[in-house]
Amino acid sequence: MALLGVNVDHVATLRQARGGREPDPLTGATLALLGGADGITVHLREDRRHINDRDLRLMRELVRTELNLEMAPVREMVRIALEVKPEMATLVPEKRRELTTEGGLDVKGDWRKLAETVKRLKDGNIRVSLFIDPDEKTIEWAAKTKADMVELHTGYYSNARPEAGQKELEKVRASAALAGSAGFMVNAGHGLDYANVCPVAAIPGLRGLYIGHSIVGMAVLVGMKEAVARMKALMAGAGGRK
Ligand code: PXP
Repeated sequence: MALLGVNVDHVATLRQARGGREPDPLTGATLALLGGADGITVHLREDRRHINDRDLRLMRELVRTELNLEMAPVREMVRIALEVKPEMATLVPEKRRELTTEGGLDVKGDWRKLAETVKRLKDGNIRVSLFIDPDEKTIEWAAKTKADMVELHTGYYSNARPEAGQKELEKVRASAALAGSAGFMVNAGHGLDYANVCPVAAIPGLRGLYIGHSIVGMAVLVGMKEAVARMKALMAGAGGRK
């Protein structure tokens, strides 16, 4: 089966909602690894809206399997990646106002910048993946950058109405085959959840799936009973109302 990289950005999003220390994405990552995650992904955004520099530094200490740094192909992030040395970096487009990464990279338009970023990261012994739409021409342009991997954007599949989902899935499947024959290691991710992951996980040759929101969302729900029970146990132990 494909590897599972768990994105813990949303644990940090919850922390940032109160601007405090909890929940700590480091603890989220530790538990994800104990649960069987093959690696941990964090996206250090230019605006630091969730994961921050401290998280990334400590994540590097914690993760001994695969730390995947999602990053925009900009100078500041390249410098940080070369210092932190994640096992891999996934280059993503980044817009300040988006809620999450919206589309794949404009590989054709940004080809030179991407090729240069890929080279700098690879020279620092970091494997590089490009987050791209599942599209033939984009894969051809991606091959020119000499990146090691691609991550196929599954958001179109995930967001499709049921009647269009099969067509979007076919695009992912065909792109996985094409990217594989172009020499890439092929990953997929974005918008995958408990209802839609299986057809993607069944695609032959996929190296890894990168999933965040649905896993963090499920963790909140399946953890709720125990969280409430722990609070009640503390209250009961404190005494109080007679
Ligand atoms: N892959 C990439 C490149 C992403 O930007 C994201 C979202 O941060 C994911 C995978 C995970 O997407 P989701 O949170 O929808 O599972």
